[in-house]
Amino acid sequence: MAASKTKQEAIEGFRDHVSSGKAAFFEKYGMDFVMGRREGPYYWDLDGEKRIFDCHTNGGVFNLGHRKPELIELLKKSLDDLDIGNHHLLSRERADLARFLAGLLPADLTYTVFGVSGGEAVDLAIKVARAYTGKTGIISARGGYHGHTGLALAAGDEKFRAPFGPPAPGFVQVPFGDATALAAAAGDQTAAVILETIPATLGIVIPPPGYLEEVRRLCTERGILLILDEVQSGLGRTGKLWAFEHFDVVPDIVVLGKGLSGGVYPISATVLRKPLESVFHKDPFIHISTYGGAEVGCRVARRVLEISSSSDFLAQVDTLAAAFSERVRKLQEKHGGFLTGFRQLGLMMGLKLKDEISGPLLTKTAYDHDLLLIYAGNDTSVCQFLPPLTTRLEEVDWITERLDKAIASARKLKPLLKMKRALEKFRSSSKSER
Ligand SMILES: Cc1ncc(COP(=O)(O)O)c(C=O)c1O
Repeated sequence: MAASKTKQEAIEGFRDHVSSGKAAFFEKYGMDFVMGRREGPYYWDLDGEKRIFDCHTNGGVFNLGHRKPELIELLKKSLDDLDIGNHHLLSRERADLARFLAGLLPADLTYTVFGVSGGEAVDLAIKVARAYTGKTGIISARGGYHGHTGLALAAGDEKFRAPFGPPAPGFVQVPFGDATALAAAAGDQTAAVILETIPATLGIVIPPPGYLEEVRRLCTERGILLILDEVQSGLGRTGKLWAFEHFDVVPDIVVLGKGLSGGVYPISATVLRKPLESVFHKDPFIHISTYGGAEVGCRVARRVLEISSSSDFLAQVDTLAAAFSERVRKLQEKHGGFLTGFRQLGLMMGLKLKDEISGPLLTKTAYDHDLLLIYAGNDTSVCQFLPPLTTRLEEVDWITERLDKAIASARKLKPLLKMKRALEKFRSSSKSER
């Protein structure tokens, strides 16, 4: 069916004024979807014909589903008496939220600096680590992802940095899961190790047994700070409020973002152990974020934390996780040549596929079967599988039935795709020989 005029204008406007590359990409793969109505786990196309179940949730932004009515109401009500507020002044809303957060975190993780995005919160974590230790070295995981702002970008992968000029100094990357490599990279000048508790963009890699504990031990022994990025893995995604609770570790700095927004008002947080706050004693105005911890967003974030930390909510995540595990393992038996593994901690799930073209392929066939699944950017043999934490148990069958069909379609398409690629390769090599 031809797109309506409204949708056509949206596509053209996006192509001509936002991103010509993205518009071309989605056109090429027959995914001419423009986000329209959204509710619960669903997005509808702007034309209202196609509805997709969100199994990506924008990395956890929509942990509680889309436009959760309670959060919308709270945001609207907050606008009766609040606005963004002034970052220089004292704020009851920020104080309430930070106090609540401190109560949910272990040890003396009691001070919060608010930001807008995850990348900004990571930048601040690295700044604090450097100021506190007086050192500059930062170790991160190869294939890890912390955002695209300055220091977060520097801690991430080369491919995201390469076109944008000389790299920031002081950053080293080591393989995730290899404590020996980390120990070898750590030196006198190392200020911090930053890791995602479960690296999402690397393909939902579950830390090997004892790894995070060994990293913690090493950091403590050498006076290095441990920053855990829980932007995707925190807030109940794994069945515990914080993913690091599955391991016997307490970080020095925790970074939160995405889901804290409730999907309706952007906010991020860098939570520091109490002594680290001293870096702001001399000059408390040395770090500024105009919109960081915007007051209207604070009330929403506090409610998100209340919901996500309740024991019933976390128990339901475990119930859903068990249901997905059972269904996906059956799919693995059926499609073993394609679906080669299942990575899971709670609802932080990754479908490990046969090879690097399988992730993009399944993304496309899942879309054709009304599921939004997106392959992991730094390991395209994995599809991230991150449904809302509020998914209903009855929906698990529906999702996995669609997944079954999507995998079957991908398996059928794969030989064709391989042939097409081989042909393209042959054509380009014979052109260059001429
Ligand atoms: C683990 C992790 N950290 C940080 C970020 C950056 O967050 P933002 O895009 O809000 O800057 C992301 C974004 O995907 C992420 O997945």
